[in-house]
Amino acid sequence: MNVLHVCANPKPTEESVSKQLAAAFFGKLIELKPEVELVNVDLYDEKPPFYSYELYRAVWNPVFDENYERSKVEEMATNYATKQVELFNNADVLVLTMPMWNYGVPAVMKAWIDQILCPGLTFDISKQDGVKPLHKIKSIVLLVASGGVYKEDDERDALSRQIRHSFEFIGIEDLEIVWAEGQNPLFFDNVEENKALAIEAAAEIAEDIAEIDLTPAAVEVAAE
Ligand SMILES: Cc1cc2nc3c(=O)[nH]c(=O)nc-3n(C[C@H](O)[C@H](O)[C@H](O)COP(=O)(O)O)c2cc1C
Repeated sequence: MNVLHVCANPKPTEESVSKQLAAAFFGKLIELKPEVELVNVDLYDEKPPFYSYELYRAVWNPVFDENYERSKVEEMATNYATKQVELFNNADVLVLTMPMWNYGVPAVMKAWIDQILCPGLTFDISKQDGVKPLHKIKSIVLLVASGGVYKEDDERDALSRQIRHSFEFIGIEDLEIVWAEGQNPLFFDNVEENKALAIEAAAEIAEDIAEIDLTPAAVEVAAE
């Protein structure tokens, strides 16, 4: 099982609740499945560029114009995306670790998503066939921490909505969420309890992920 872990948090683990969820998740996953091939991408070490006009031309022009040829500058604009997409398309499971910032994902995470969700890289798109995945990801695990508490369907939560819909667009339906909520001690007295519950949930989700069947027969049945 190949797992790609993308983390968008500049804090060290001892100060970051979301990174502590990741530690609990991977501690359990690797205990249960030592053969897991784990690739870590720290978006503060490998900062994505903002989406550019050249990247836009390089990836979208071929969709609309079969005679389009990339210029050198346009080719270079795909460098970061191409490297990340190789990791993405090789993964069976994607784990995203981040805090909630201003009700959404941190800017580096948004920039990373913009880089990789490009036609010809992680999906193909056409009028006849619609969107066809070029990746093989079965499941996404979202590990998130927030100061506040957001019940399901709370309209302030732009974070989980964006992750769910962005990746559903390229055919990933299964999203598991572990959320350490209520982490602001100014507003909540049960910060530690909330964190402990989420750490427990992270280990439980790792048990489910360890059981994903990746044998060719199971993958074929799931695709039908
Ligand atoms: C720049 C910034 C913006 C934040 N915005 C929100 C927010 O919109 N909603 C919320 O509930 N908490 C917000 N918080 C609080 C964090 O989500 C909370 O501290 C969380 O525990 C951070 O995760 P971490 O411990 O993994 O860094 C914000 C914190 C920072 C630093």
